Amino acid sequence: MEILVSPGPDETAARAADAVLRGLARAVDRPPVLGLATGSSPLGLYRQLGRAVADGRADFSDAYGVALDEYVGLPPGHPEGYRQVLLREVCGVIGLAPEHLEVPDGSSARAADLERAAVAYEERIASLGGVDVQVLGIGANGHLGFNEPGSALASRTRVKRLSARTRRDNARFFTGLDDVPTHCLTQGLGTILDARRLVLVATGDAKADAVAAALEGPLTASVPASVLQWHPDTVVCLDEAAAAGLRNRQYYDDSAAGLPTA
Ligand code: F6R
Repeated sequence: MEILVSPGPDETAARAADAVLRGLARAVDRPPVLGLATGSSPLGLYRQLGRAVADGRADFSDAYGVALDEYVGLPPGHPEGYRQVLLREVCGVIGLAPEHLEVPDGSSARAADLERAAVAYEERIASLGGVDVQVLGIGANGHLGFNEPGSALASRTRVKRLSARTRRDNARFFTGLDDVPTHCLTQGLGTILDARRLVLVATGDAKADAVAAALEGPLTASVPASVLQWHPDTVVCLDEAAAAGLRNRQYYDDSAAGLPTA
């Protein structure tokens, strides 16, 4: 794992954008596939990618975007459904074509429809050649995507119940807690681990405990984000507040400094 700690959220976003662009540059002879998280954590990163496009350092016009998750039961076009959120916060910012945005279909609340949608989503990701770089945030309870504590480490896209904590945390996007869906369709931890590179962004002290447990605690379903430890190419971008619980901090900083110049 590459663990990069920056003084504040802006530098964190800039380093995360750099890690994303380096990962996407490895996609040759086919359109790059960028895995997209929603929520507050990656917003600065998406703005940085937008700046890279404006400067001519990046071009997402032929890229595909693949969402991590979607709420179940929101009507199509609901402003807090993740398709709409990603259209606003990513497509509109980095120039990704809306028809290249893939989001699991959570519009039905029927179990059989959702099971079919989950299988179709896995097939769609495979047909795109897999995800080159998956952007991730972390829940204060250690969730990754909407894989809540207790999620199988090898899980694939499926329906999950949202935890009470996650529903409370996300109530800020709705008119009240009662409007927050109870279920979602989410890429599984196994699906996420298939991406060629993972880039996690976490800022603020509310994430410090989850970050420490995920990066330095045991690999366990109780902390789903601990699967980051299993992936061969994970870049973790933190600000000082989110890194506050890390015990091995000096080592990460030394490693980030790279090899001594001869
Ligand atoms: C969003 C997602 C979640 C969020 C996490 C952190 O697609 O899958 O795992 O990344 O809940 O959310 P924020 O960034 O809003 O704190």
